[in-house]
Amino acid sequence: MTEKVDGQGVRLARKPVMRVLKREDLEAIVEIDGLASKRSRRDYYERKIDRILDVAHNINTSLVAEEEGRIAGFIMGDLYFGEFGIPETTGTIDTIGVHPDFQRHGIASELLDQFLMNMKAAGVNKIYTLINWDDFTLEKFFSRNGFAPSKRVNLERRIP
Ligand SMILES: CC(C)(COP(=O)(O)OP(=O)(O)OC[C@H]1O[C@@H](n2cnc3c(N)ncnc32)[C@H](O)[C@@H]1OP(=O)(O)O)[C@@H](O)C(=O)NCCC(=O)NCCS
Repeated sequence: MTEKVDGQGVRLARKPVMRVLKREDLEAIVEIDGLASKRSRRDYYERKIDRILDVAHNINTSLVAEEEGRIAGFIMGDLYFGEFGIPETTGTIDTIGVHPDFQRHGIASELLDQFLMNMKAAGVNKIYTLINWDDFTLEKFFSRNGFAPSKRVNLERRIP
């Protein structure tokens, strides 16, 4: 991988190729996610990609980044038109992942920038994501990219 050093660390000399996520990306996405989560979430990603690509109900804002002909990373999200009692159109980032071979080269940041442009084009002006409180890598990544704790409170209840 060709690299150069700038004021903020090592970055790719050229930007990764970014394109809209397609069904054929499933295997690569499951692999990248599995390397991070240490389990296979194939069923989840199959359902998620089905929903994302359902043109009757969704606008596909999700993306993959390609490096050296491989899928280096992905970002997936959804649009919400007035759900949860929130009147405006909002967006979510559901999952983001970069293959360990390509991490810390700015790929997730590039994916996020393009994803936010897609969301803006779809009419979104606020974007939400959820992370585990102790996922310090994702917390640092999102904080570095302008995310802050939300005024919305995430409630949960176990169903016995
Ligand atoms: C978080 C993640 C997406 C970052 O991808 P990346 O392409 O390496 O991120 P970037 O290079 O754009 O990093 C941007 C900034 O985020 C922060 N960051 C990224 N990775 C970090 C790490 N491992 N530790 C601390 N900070 C980190 C840094 O501030 C970094 O800027 P810097 O390199 O100038 O210091 C990647 O580490 C990943 O895929 N982790 C697994 C996430 C996961 O569990 N996904 C599956 C379920 S959602």
